[in-house]
Amino acid sequence: MARTALVTGGSRGIGAAISKTLKAEGYTVAATYAGNDEAAANFTEETGIKTFKWNVGDYEESKAGIAKVEEELGGIDVVVANAGITRDAPFHKMTPEQWQQVIDTNLTGVFNTVHPVWPGMRERGFGRVIVISSINGQKGQFGQVNYAATKAGDLGIVKSLAQEGAAKGITANAICPGYIATEMVMAVPEKVRDMIIGQIPTGRLGEPEEIARCVAFLASDDASFINGSTISANGAQFVV
Ligand SMILES: NC(=O)c1ccc[n+]([C@@H]2O[C@H](COP(=O)([O-])OP(=O)(O)OC[C@H]3O[C@@H](n4cnc5c(N)ncnc54)[C@H](OP(=O)(O)O)[C@@H]3O)[C@@H](O)[C@H]2O)c1
Repeated sequence: MARTALVTGGSRGIGAAISKTLKAEGYTVAATYAGNDEAAANFTEETGIKTFKWNVGDYEESKAGIAKVEEELGGIDVVVANAGITRDAPFHKMTPEQWQQVIDTNLTGVFNTVHPVWPGMRERGFGRVIVISSINGQKGQFGQVNYAATKAGDLGIVKSLAQEGAAKGITANAICPGYIATEMVMAVPEKVRDMIIGQIPTGRLGEPEEIARCVAFLASDDASFINGSTISANGAQFVV
């Protein structure tokens, strides 16, 4: 029987590429989103992948949403915690609201997404937890104290989950993308984009599909012994 995969923020950007790649690999995929109904409807029409709407920052919403996905599609074997936001500001101008929104979505959102699927994975003796972190969680970034804190925290989550889940056939790993050609990055002025590209030894932005293929590998049986790891996919911009 096909394995079921849940991709948070799976209707746009990197998440959309992950959802499509996992579907092409034979998974039954559920993609979630926060509020952009139009993008989600277009995505479902284009791909046939079902979309579900909830705020990953809210535990009760996440739990109820995941229960609905499992009722419709079966127990979740692969969970990709991808939903994420930025609220950038230099630290001296960063507001408590900017701090809290990013913590709620990028860090607590991972807890809220993985915690409800964890018991089912333990019972079935199989699971794949894949968290989309960031290069800026590894190296820090001017104007992103909040974002970098959450993305570094995501690495702590997978390292700990790996140790707790290993005996139950569950792996937990992170991917740290560098700068990827999503709407967000393509929307910055061309001059700034050129400056970013200038810092990438490979000489280009990454493609969402390049992150999606890392996810497909980590989800596969071939990756059973990779647990608690971080894949950096950044064109040599930052070498750990
Ligand atoms: N793009 C990059 O260069 C880059 C680099 C490193 C890491 N990343 C990480 O990769 C992930 C995806 O980034 P992206 O650039 O593809 O983002 P994106 O294009 O802005 O898409 C974000 C997705 O997450 C959903 N989302 C946002 N907040 C949510 C919430 N509170 N609850 C549920 N869903 C929520 C959005 O839903 P709506 O469609 O409803 O808004 C959307 O589907 C993020 O974790 C990001 O930090 C990105």
